Amino acid sequence: MTEFNILLIDDDEDDYLHIRDLLSDVISSKYKLTWKSTYNEGLAALYENNFDACLLDYRLGEKTGLELLVESQGKINSCPIIFLTGLFDFELDIKAMHVGAADYLVKGQLTSPLLERSIRYAIKQQHDMEELKESKAQIIQQDRLASLGLLASSLAHEIGTPMGIIRSRAELAESKAGNNEPLKKDLLIIVSQIDRITKLVNSLLHLARERKSDLGAAVDLNQTIQDVLNLLEHEFDRNNITLVKQFSKPYLVKAESGPLGQVLLNLLINSLHAIEESRKQGITKEHHVVLKTESINENIKLTVQDTGCGISEDNQRNLFKPFFTTKEFGQGTGLGLATSIKLVESWGGQISVSSKIKEGSEFSILLPAIT
Ligand SMILES: Nc1ncnc2c1ncn2[C@@H]1O[C@H](COP(=O)(O)OP(=O)(O)OP(=O)(O)O)[C@@H](O)[C@H]1O
Ligand SMILES: [Mg+2]
Repeated sequence: MTEFNILLIDDDEDDYLHIRDLLSDVISSKYKLTWKSTYNEGLAALYENNFDACLLDYRLGEKTGLELLVESQGKINSCPIIFLTGLFDFELDIKAMHVGAADYLVKGQLTSPLLERSIRYAIKQQHDMEELKESKAQIIQQDRLASLGLLASSLAHEIGTPMGIIRSRAELAESKAGNNEPLKKDLLIIVSQIDRITKLVNSLLHLARERKSDLGAAVDLNQTIQDVLNLLEHEFDRNNITLVKQFSKPYLVKAESGPLGQVLLNLLINSLHAIEESRKQGITKEHHVVLKTESINENIKLTVQDTGCGISEDNQRNLFKPFFTTKEFGQGTGLGLATSIKLVESWGGQISVSSKIKEGSEFSILLPAIT
């Protein structure tokens, strides 16, 4: 039998006893009812985020359930809220609907089947909404990748051609420079810098490559890491952050190289932002990011560990939800980890996180090894 965790926020004990009795009469499902009698206790319980649905009374001492609904908007994710009132009030019903209530029930008219049905529908609708939100998030991310791919290929073409010409002219000039050693040296520097740009453009192309539908083949992990570092390493230098590289051994993993690069790129950018945040909070310490690969049984573990601001336990629960971000507008969309987890799981892998506030975070990706 399905078991549901229901939160009741109501300041009247008689109502609690009545609703408890109604729910215990339901035979198709089992309900565990938690009762909170004040506005603040109710709000705190809602933020714990482990209820399947919430029944919310309109009158809550000095405040109203409507105010509670507004205050909790955007901060709770998967709990539908059903409004309860003493009297039917059409305007209030409409207001409740607009601030996101799943249903509006009048206490005096409550019966056990009515309550059961309202809860069941509210949970189902919430579930459908979340699926919709996730697929929207994926479409946005795919759109992002597609535009990155387009940009990368036009860049590769627009930059690649003149770069090739400059490179061959520099080489020609070098061969004609005779004994002029300082000039030769300068020309060789031009050639090597052009090679650097070409490598960077190629890395961008690799990372933006479209996803194949066969969900994972052998990917050279070191190559992917190198592609990402070609794009990002200078950011670490520029921000005075030591990048500790512990990935000398070559590994093949089951993944897709472009999307795996995106996953790693997001982890490293998140670490950069977290260190920036730690500095903003006035914490002074040496900062570093460790990038490590190791073999564990049949899997390869890729770890990104930073000394940034860390993640509160509350936020850790929401990290992988689409659109969860603590960054300012323009800095993050909150899709990085949500799409990363989908991708990694589609290759048969896992992502885990451990973090301590003000000390730092560690994200690990476990991927099936290909031998
Ligand atoms: N290494 C980290 N240290 C501290 N907080 C982190 C770290 N990684 C992720 N977070 C937190 O998790 C949130 C979600 O990360 P995620 O990568 O999904 O989205 P984002 O970085 O905010 O935006 P996007 O990646 O879409 O540009 C971040 O806003 C941040 O609060
Ligand atoms: Mg991110």
